[in-house]
Amino acid sequence: MRFTLPAASLIALVAEAVANTEKVIFTAPSAITIPNIRPGLDDLNLDTLSPAGLRTLETSLAVQFPSDTAPRGVQSWYLLKDLEPGRRYEVRVCWPATQPTDFWLDVHNLTHVFETPLLISSLADYSENRQPIDLQGPGRAQGEATSHSVLLLHIHSAADYFTSNRTLMEHPPAVDVDLILDPFLLNILPQSLGPTALYITVLAVGSFFLSGAIYTWLYQIAEIPKPHTD
Ligand SMILES: *[C@@H]1O[C@H](CO)[C@@H](O)[C@H](O)[C@H]1NC(C)=O
Ligand SMILES: *[C@@H]1O[C@H](CO)[C@@H](O)[C@H](O)[C@H]1NC(C)=O
Repeated sequence: MRFTLPAASLIALVAEAVANTEKVIFTAPSAITIPNIRPGLDDLNLDTLSPAGLRTLETSLAVQFPSDTAPRGVQSWYLLKDLEPGRRYEVRVCWPATQPTDFWLDVHNLTHVFETPLLISSLADYSENRQPIDLQGPGRAQGEATSHSVLLLHIHSAADYFTSNRTLMEHPPAVDVDLILDPFLLNILPQSLGPTALYITVLAVGSFFLSGAIYTWLYQIAEIPKPHTD
């Protein structure tokens, strides 16, 4: 187990190298009370990422080539829920290098979205186009109002290549992406980088002692008279 950890980190590093990554770093806002009335946040039908729940979402994002009306292509929205207020997080989007795409990631609090006409209309459009999976969720109790730290993730995705194929220019295929919510350790380091950082630290400390040992060994082999006298 101890030996597979560095290997896993290296594989993760290599995997990141052949894929592209775009990210946004933010601090979770304080919890707000969301009244349990309908329609509520759940009725937006957004895919949700949360530290205790789903942290990696494998999905495909629609893209468009940039146009005058949509210079950043297609917009999509996700809910970031049950965050820990005051903690730093990172959301990454990773996509294969074989599908050149530009991504823009933004996080907004609810108030800001609901008070900004461009954002709320974009969110409404996106939400409307998503098919409700289950119109009447089983037993949605009209419970108490709950308190959550939530943010909305707003993604723009635009195709970033050129093809002479008209069909392809008008309907570029969706891009396979991983959306990853990563809490920071001690607000300094993304948690998923923890093993890598640990490995590098162990390596650095280890090589310090190792070089000391090698030095002593060489010293003995060379039989250089020790500087101190008996
Ligand atoms: C919401 O976001 C806006 C714009 O980023 C900011 O000015 C405001 O203070 C935020 N409100 C809360 C409650 O965090
Ligand atoms: C254009 O791309 C589409 C989709 O990949 C393909 O089906 C079609 O054959 C291509 N057309 C030409 C002229 O290459």
